[in-house]
Amino acid sequence: MSPSDLAEPSAAPRAAPDFLLPPRAYYAADWYEWEQATLFGARWALVAAADELTEPGDYVTATVGRAPLVMLVGHDGELRAFHNLCRHRGMVLLNGSGRVERSVNCFYHQWRYALDGALEVVPQRKDQFPGLDVDDWGLLPASVAVWEGLVFAHPDPAAPPLADTLRGVPEHLGSHHPGLLRQVSVCRLEARCNWKLFVENHVDVYHLWHLHASTLGDFDHTRFEHVQTGPNWASYEPLKHGDLAGAALTRGTDQIGHLDERDRHGIGAHLVFPNLMMATAAEFFATYVAIPQSPGTSLIELRMRAEAGADAEAITDAALSFIHEDIRACEAVQRAVTSPAFRVGPLALDHERPIESFHSSVLAGMGPTAPMAPGGVR
Ligand code: FES
Ligand SMILES: [Fe+2]
Repeated sequence: MSPSDLAEPSAAPRAAPDFLLPPRAYYAADWYEWEQATLFGARWALVAAADELTEPGDYVTATVGRAPLVMLVGHDGELRAFHNLCRHRGMVLLNGSGRVERSVNCFYHQWRYALDGALEVVPQRKDQFPGLDVDDWGLLPASVAVWEGLVFAHPDPAAPPLADTLRGVPEHLGSHHPGLLRQVSVCRLEARCNWKLFVENHVDVYHLWHLHASTLGDFDHTRFEHVQTGPNWASYEPLKHGDLAGAALTRGTDQIGHLDERDRHGIGAHLVFPNLMMATAAEFFATYVAIPQSPGTSLIELRMRAEAGADAEAITDAALSFIHEDIRACEAVQRAVTSPAFRVGPLALDHERPIESFHSSVLAGMGPTAPMAPGGVR
């Protein structure tokens, strides 16, 4: 991104931002269920890296909203997404990730599907399913799209363009091109907090000085720039002294070769609403998704991309150094949200404004008829 692309703090509106969500947004089962139906039910979700899906039969599974999906490479080399459900009695077909040989076989009654989703084999078909037309019973299609080496899936086969979801973020990545990098690690972390606390923390500029005083203390938060693009958000801040090797987050090695001077000496944090976060640095491009598990728990799925041959462990540890601090803070807030004394006080004028924007997007996404929409939630 270029400096002129991002709003300077002085350009921020002067009225203090509001914390728009009530405490029950962080613990109530009905609120959670409505979010699942509205925010997470039909959307593009980051589900894999293209690195994991290269050969025929390679597959990755993921649940988007309530829909188990499978992304599968066909014999023709094409990547497709399907609902991961057998068309006979509906069981989930594949788990985790890996490679199937010739076909996808359902272990219940051995219906078999080709890698392009077509139903190929129905045991005892002539006797037991005399009128069945296999053309009617292939795997149900979903949508898949790849952006910069990242694989996204949507449960709807006629999904809107992925670009609508990414809106604004690709334009604010500056010289970062994650598609030129390799996925070097995947970590899944349990966080005992509502997913929104983790996202709020991600867009909170104020905590950089304090919670991350040592891990991010080498960056100049006074020169933090950020911009809201619809529900999405992008940011950048430079190193204080321009000394890569002396910064805690980076060792000055394994730098990404294609970065320009500005991105080699700065970091970025971005949000693709509702729950896909990105962090960029001289050595890595990280994505982390806060996947809701229950009102009070989330799974943080961290994917690190770096140059081939980079020290994956060191690079992953660099990102985990601040992510662990974030989880600790979010879990401590979660423990308080059910207290009758829990109240959110004043928010920082510029540095916590993105939280208000995030809340507005959550409420807009949940819709005016939601039982817990503004006015009916307290
Ligand atoms: S449920 Fe898959 S073959 Fe019966
Ligand atoms: Fe943080």
